[in-house]
Amino acid sequence: MRILGIETSCDETAAAVVEDGVRILSSVVASQLDTHGKYGGVVPELASREHLRAIVPVVREALQRAGSTYGDLAAVAATEGPGLVGSLLVGLTFAKGLCFARGLPLIAVNHLEGHIHAVMLEARQRGEEIRFPALALVVSGGHTHLYEIKEPGSYRLLGRTRDDAAGEAYDKVAKLLGFSYPGGPVIDQLARYGNPEAVRFTRARMKGNPLDFSFSGLKTAVLRWFEKRDMEAEVRARRELLRHNPRPSIEDWLAVTPRETLDLLASFQATVIDELLRRAAASAGQIGARSMIISGGVACNAGLREAARSAHLSVPVYFPTPGLSTDNAAMIAAAAFPKYRRGEFAGFDVKARANLALA
Ligand code: KG4
Ligand code: ZN
Repeated sequence: MRILGIETSCDETAAAVVEDGVRILSSVVASQLDTHGKYGGVVPELASREHLRAIVPVVREALQRAGSTYGDLAAVAATEGPGLVGSLLVGLTFAKGLCFARGLPLIAVNHLEGHIHAVMLEARQRGEEIRFPALALVVSGGHTHLYEIKEPGSYRLLGRTRDDAAGEAYDKVAKLLGFSYPGGPVIDQLARYGNPEAVRFTRARMKGNPLDFSFSGLKTAVLRWFEKRDMEAEVRARRELLRHNPRPSIEDWLAVTPRETLDLLASFQATVIDELLRRAAASAGQIGARSMIISGGVACNAGLREAARSAHLSVPVYFPTPGLSTDNAAMIAAAAFPKYRRGEFAGFDVKARANLALA
């Protein structure tokens, strides 16, 4: 039983064929990094245009690599939201057209449910069983959300960011300091060379729901730190490096990043990780979780994985492999599988929803 998944919510055009919700026959991701990189963030208009350009070849390649034809598919699943509406529309409309032409059922998937299913898919592949209730932390460029999963498919929102998402904070700090977009991977690698205790950032204290997050104060603290120092020359050196070499190596970055800045990056990363894990652990305790799922682009973070391991949390913590942490379509096809079995199909009137909530 093969499902074609399509994901176009942000800046990756992705298609994948997944069999029986567990075997990834193909997973193709066309990144738009070269388009958005020079702007230090995603430009929505350019993203839609790139999706339009990529969607047909990406879907074709996914089918080819899977050794599948349209005739082998049981259904087509596409991301319905949340995300950039112009980007979502490309994938969803393409999926509708395909379903209409081929007489296939359409399945609409929430992007955040996709991120959660990336973990469940890999657990199934290993023959492991995730125990419920589970606590899920979805942490990406657009989201920092804590959910209780009472049982598969049943979600309750426990906390969320009130301003920037954690990945967004990484991207903004990177942009400010002259590093490349996306900021997460480069800061993560450079943080290893700095002292995480060098700069003391105050922790966000939340009025109201203590499980909510806030990262805008931390971002402003980095800005203040930056303003107090004479950093123009090093930032200029990094921008110059990027102009000549769009994909610098870590050694290239280290050559234009003084120790004090490495300490700042390490301290910033340590603060983000602490904020994430403290609230994840507190909410897991609150709901009596029997496992924890951490997914989304920021789940790639080596420091976060290491900290989760050494925190000796009372429940097993599951991360997706890095390739399934960032946006991909295998997670969308996997999330569609239980919906297929329940006969939960979408009509052709289903709309792309920028702010679609999971719970
Ligand atoms: O899930 P994703 O691919 O797209 C969204 O749904 O947003 O996540 C992208 C985000 C970006 O903000 C990026 O900087 C962040 O994930 N990211 C990381 C790392 N790799 C990607 N953040 C921290 N450490 C990383 N290693
Ligand atoms: Zn995502």
